[in-house]
Order: sequence, then C-alpha cells, then structure tokens
Amino acid sequence: MLVNSKHYRSIWVKDNDKRVIQTIDQSKLPHYFEISDLKTSDDVIHAIKEMTLRGAPLIGVAASYGIYLAALEAKSETVDIVSFEKFVNTKANELKSTRPTAVNLFWGIDQTLKAISKYNTIDEKINASFNCANKLANDDIESCRKIGGFGLKIIEDIKKSKSSDIVNILTHCNAGWLACIDYGTATSPIYTAHEKGIKVHVWVEETRPRNQGASLTAWELGQTGIPHTIITDNAGGYVLQKGLVDLVIVGSDRTTCTGDVCNKIGTYKTALAAKDNDIPFYAAFPSSSIDWTLKNGLNEIPIEERDAEEVKFIQGKYKNEIVKVLLTPQDSPAKNFGFDVTPSRLVTGIITERGICEANEKSIRELFPEK
Ligand code: MRU
Repeated sequence: MLVNSKHYRSIWVKDNDKRVIQTIDQSKLPHYFEISDLKTSDDVIHAIKEMTLRGAPLIGVAASYGIYLAALEAKSETVDIVSFEKFVNTKANELKSTRPTAVNLFWGIDQTLKAISKYNTIDEKINASFNCANKLANDDIESCRKIGGFGLKIIEDIKKSKSSDIVNILTHCNAGWLACIDYGTATSPIYTAHEKGIKVHVWVEETRPRNQGASLTAWELGQTGIPHTIITDNAGGYVLQKGLVDLVIVGSDRTTCTGDVCNKIGTYKTALAAKDNDIPFYAAFPSSSIDWTLKNGLNEIPIEERDAEEVKFIQGKYKNEIVKVLLTPQDSPAKNFGFDVTPSRLVTGIITERGICEANEKSIRELFPEK
C-alpha cells in the first residue's frame, strides 16, 4: 500500500541486514509514521503484547519472524542442537502467550516450528524459519489480493442494483493492510472496487477503546484517497437503520469451521443491526484465521480481556505530542473485553482466498476440502 506515494508492507526484512525485521509502529498512527526495528524475539513479544503491531494476519507473520529471531539468538547462546531447540521452544511458548484470540498467532508459530523440524543442523533450521516467515508474508498478501477480487463482485452487484452510483460500506476496527501484510481483508474489496473506478464511501466505526477504526482504517483510506466518514461505535445502528449503508464488511481474528465469526469487540452489535435492517454482513479473512478445531464460537473461542486502563484513558495528539487523558472517574472500575463472537446466523457470507461461501460448516469445507 502507498504511504505518501511510497509502497510499504506492514512488515519486512531490513535492507542489507537480514537480522532486523521492520514494522510500522501502529501506536503512533495516524499522527506519526514511524518505523520500528525488531532485533530480538523479545522485541516481537513486546510489540505484539503492546499492540505496536496488531491485526490477526500481521500477528501471525510477526510471530513467525519472532521464531526466526529466536533461532538466531539460540545459535549465539547455546552449544548444541538440544539446547538450541529448547531455547526456540521456550520463545515459541512466550510468543503464544502474548495474545489469546487471533488464531493466526498460533498458526504462524506452529507453521514455523514445523518448517524448522524438517532440518538437522542449526544453520539449516535458521534458514528454514527465515524462509517460512517470508513465505507466510507473501502468502498472506496473495490471499488478501484474492479476497479483494472475490469481494469486488459483491460491490459490483450492489452497484448494479442501486439508483445512486455510490456504494456505502460500513466497517469496524482495522481489517486493512496494516492489520495484514498488504491490501487488508475487509478493505481489500474496497480498494479493488476503488481501483476499478467504482465510487465507494466507507463508514468507519471508531472502535473503542483502542480506536483502530478512527486512527488506522481512516488513515489508510485517506492515504488511498477513498471517501470515508468516521462515526462513533454507537452510531453504527443509526446509519444502518437510515438506509445509509449498502454493505457491511469486517475482518476476523478467529472463525470456527461452522462460521461463527470472532472479531473486535462491537462487531456483534453491528451484525445485529445489519440483520434487523436486511443489510448484507460479510466477514473477510484468509483461511489462516479459521480454527478448524472449534465448532461453537461463543463457548470455545478465548476472548482477550485487556487492561481496564485502555477504557479509562484515551490517547490523542496535543501540541505535537501523543498523550493519554483520563475519561472516567479515577476510581470507577472498568472492563475491557477485546473481542466478541457474531454467530453464523447473522453472517450473510464469508470472503476467503478461495472464494465466497455461506457461514456454515458444509459451505466452508466445500471451499477447503483438504481440511
Ligand atoms: O486487537 P487488534 O487490533 O489486534 O484486533 C484485531 C483486529 O484488527 C480486528 O478484529 C480485525 O477486524 C480483524 S484482523 C484483520
């Protein structure tokens, strides 16, 4: 994606230094565009925990690079293959404990450990982890590009059926290129439609408490010149009810094989309002976000609970500095649930790299028969 007309991915290997991984510090956006260096597996662990990098597909790829950095560290800190493997496995477990909900995290780590396990020497294992992380990054880009192509058809069909020539799309949180490696999931069909000359306008729900919609999605859309309007999360129902939305597209952090979609907190309320107003509600994600072991999203998906301070304070820019201010009575307790589950019955369809299907086990497995 372009930032000030220069192409970026959300994560990459530093030019001329394969031992450094670079990312965009999302905690500074939209005010400052800063690049962070990840030099150790602990840097990756910290970045995922503190959400300087975030979004399910990006977390999965970053964790894979985290295993690669752990393998480099293991080479300098250990003496034999047994202690090398012990070191890498300890870091893998630490990476897995950073965030519980996005299944891509566990998928990315397991893919990388599997790639390493095929080789016998330390240098071969390091190479395997590096190649695996690069492959996961490239595969994610390709998946998101394909999601854009499949989702475009939905937007084109809506355009044909409307008298006005603008298609209004509502999204929640940031399922854009920052959350992935490029293109995004929910945003990929929007970018593709825009490139094809279809007029789109995006309603961006702010997505309290971390405001990924207001700060990240709005910034991304602005960089690409796509008309958009930020609304409070509470206004989502209103715009759906007033006929101001043609289509809802969100991302997902973990979807069961039965089509229950777990996504950023607030998605469920948006899905309910979409259903009540007969507005199509799609979830777009690569298959790395599908948890093939789970059937009941509500009972089985672990929901991250984050620090209550994220609810009580809000971050913004004041006199060129990024500051946090207290919103609530100092002593009032707060709860910070990170995600919710939208049951499959509220989901019109899911958009994946293999195509679009209904949100049920039969349709999902038809797209992915090997699973
Ligand atoms: O907590 P975050 O910011 O890592 O949340 C993840 C998300 O951005 C979303 O829920 C997103 O819509 C799905 S990931 C493309």
